[in-house]
Amino acid sequence: MNLPDIKEARKRTTNQTEYVYLNQEYDNKLFANQKYFLRTYGCQMNVHDGEEIAARLESLGFTSTDSIEDADVVVLNTCAIRENAHDKLYGFLGRCKHEKEKNNNDLIIAICGCMAQEENVVKDIMEKHPYVDIVFGTHNIHELQDLLINRTKKQNIDVYSCEGKIYENISYKRESDIKAWVNIQYGCDKFCTYCIVPYTRGKQRSRKKEDIVNEVKDLKEKGYKEVTLLGQNVNAYGKDIYTDYNLANLLTDVAETGIERVRFVTSHPWDFTDEMVDVIASYDNVMPYIHLPLQSGSNKILKLMNRRYTKEEYLELYNKIKTKVKDCSITTDIIVGFPNETEEDFNETLEVVNKCKFDSAFTFIYSPREGTPAAKMEDSISMKEKEDRLYKLNELINEYSKEANERYLNKVVPVLIEGISEKDKDKVFGYTDTMKLVNVINAKDKIGKIIDVKITDAKSFSLDGEAI
Ligand code: 5AD
Ligand code: SF4
Repeated sequence: MNLPDIKEARKRTTNQTEYVYLNQEYDNKLFANQKYFLRTYGCQMNVHDGEEIAARLESLGFTSTDSIEDADVVVLNTCAIRENAHDKLYGFLGRCKHEKEKNNNDLIIAICGCMAQEENVVKDIMEKHPYVDIVFGTHNIHELQDLLINRTKKQNIDVYSCEGKIYENISYKRESDIKAWVNIQYGCDKFCTYCIVPYTRGKQRSRKKEDIVNEVKDLKEKGYKEVTLLGQNVNAYGKDIYTDYNLANLLTDVAETGIERVRFVTSHPWDFTDEMVDVIASYDNVMPYIHLPLQSGSNKILKLMNRRYTKEEYLELYNKIKTKVKDCSITTDIIVGFPNETEEDFNETLEVVNKCKFDSAFTFIYSPREGTPAAKMEDSISMKEKEDRLYKLNELINEYSKEANERYLNKVVPVLIEGISEKDKDKVFGYTDTMKLVNVINAKDKIGKIIDVKITDAKSFSLDGEAI
């Protein structure tokens, strides 16, 4: 048994990251005729981990099911970013417990992901949820098959708190055969004071450029049209392993593979270089879309958050991107109700939103995370006040989202068609290069293709259009 340890998780050394080229083969009859139910919560990184978990389960012979009642193993791939992510897990765990007690004593329940890296969560699972069979963390997904094969009747808890290695030769069961996630970097060293990620995912470490470019080439050969390069803080790509190769170089090399669309998330406004802006501007297949978290528009709060930029610096970068990258859409993340955020601080956030007129934004009420510096800060703002601020912010954000969408009316834009629309089976859906969701008529035979679409209606969260 290995338990998470937040002190270990916080440690950072200058040791070189170890690259492990896996060579694992499993007997795919071991769990033949058995089914897995996988639920993933949280960010793109988790979604992509979910694709690895699915491939690992299938390598043992499991096939997937959408119902817990049919499942032999349930895997809950969790998120720890805010308290409501915890609530969702515990709600769902109750259903799994019921199923195991009432209908299927042999049901294997496994918990993994970011919550599994938290000391208090694992303690709670050991004390109050004895029916959970396996807990593993973000650093040992590659051990999943062994954990299943070698599990004992007791709770099997194997979570490592460490800086982390990089594992290569990973298989994924990708959710789409049109667009794919490609990890370029793991972990985070930014230590924003509210954020749990540097503790749950280890140090910032970059994959080698040739491993990334080869993965993209392979995806292109398989017919994928779009890749999204993934990392918590992609601008820092390469800094840990190269002196003369950075995200601008990587974007160039990935664009040069000729894959039709290249995206990347998430950028930190810190170390977003001019060189990067130039590469985005100069390659047609690097999409004009940037997610650039602001978090707050008050310099006092940004400092308390340890964000390492001022609102003036953010605005300067924002304007530079908007000037150099034609029709670039920029989205953001904002937290309201951070400890010590006054009405004035909040108003400064609204002011920055009024200046930037973001294409859209994810907005959150600050949620204290145990073990982070902000959790120790005194927080005197009432929940009612925080909710009011969130409401006010969302009203403004939605206004600008609608405005941004209305600018597309009657224009013809390229859309990568991804599949049949869920709400209306006569329509297909896809995304513009600027990441706008479009529901399209007359294009059912165009799935997997980038086509010209005339925009006929604009709503706050999507566009309607027709293929031309
Ligand atoms: N409380 C609220 N929001 C948070 N985020 C990260 N940590 C917290 C927290 N403790 C938000 C940030 C980040 C996004 C992924 O989640 O805005 O950019
Ligand atoms: Fe969290 Fe900040 Fe790292 Fe983003 S950059 S993952 S908000 S610590």
